[in-house]
Amino acid sequence: MTTSSSAPVAVLGAGGHAKVMVATLKAAGRLVLGCFVREAAELGGKVLGVPVLHEDTVPAGAELILAAGDGRLRQRLAAKLAGPWAIVVHPSAIIDPSVVLEPGAMICAGVVLQPEVRVGAHAIVNTAAHVDHDGAIGRFAHVAPGCHVAGSVAIGEGAFLGTGATVIPGRRIGAWATVGAGAVVLYDVRDGSTVVGVPARERPRP
Ligand SMILES: CC(C)(COP(=O)(O)OP(=O)(O)OC[C@H]1O[C@@H](n2cnc3c(N)ncnc32)[C@H](O)[C@@H]1OP(=O)(O)O)[C@@H](O)C(=O)NCCC(=O)NCCS
Repeated sequence: MTTSSSAPVAVLGAGGHAKVMVATLKAAGRLVLGCFVREAAELGGKVLGVPVLHEDTVPAGAELILAAGDGRLRQRLAAKLAGPWAIVVHPSAIIDPSVVLEPGAMICAGVVLQPEVRVGAHAIVNTAAHVDHDGAIGRFAHVAPGCHVAGSVAIGEGAFLGTGATVIPGRRIGAWATVGAGAVVLYDVRDGSTVVGVPARERPRP
């Protein structure tokens, strides 16, 4: 497994996902310097006791982590910032030593990553999601809480799997596709499409 460092961490964001990020970092024993934001209205608050500060004040030497559930937002921020990016792993996650985690990846509490899974840069594997052997999770993708992803599934860049979605072995989830909460994916999902239901079917664009 790619190990994370013990450098202090600056969390970029102060919303709901930032709360989970701060909790995960604390559980992992990392020092959290602050939740850094651009909007003046958010300044001065706290996230689980961590101060909300202006993003221009991120201290040198900190590792950065993007705390936004939205993949397009993480993509935009990653393009603007040079890092260095933290890799954030909750200590309760079960991760095979062969797993590769790219910079900026976040692995939440109770996740299971089986052998030779690869998690791309700035991807999120959320609470208690399971990804079986040889899975590939593209950068900026988000596997939401409780998903069950079988072996050899390829999840494209920026794809979003909603809470509790299931994917059978070997399927491909296209780039920036959305899989609805509770869907069961039996067939490949096209780039940019939205699928819902059991079995998951493409939802016509409005
Ligand atoms: C698939 C999803 C993204 C669609 O969102 P949306 O475009 O706002 O969809 P709407 O709520 O407008 O619903 C549109 C239609 O799709 C249906 N639908 C939406 N999500 C569905 C789902 N997961 N399964 C089955 N049907 C669904 C709605 O019932 C509605 O049908 P209707 O027009 O017959 O009433 C969303 O419903 C979803 O499942 N999100 C997952 C969120 C999540 O898990 N977040 C985790 C954060 S950590």
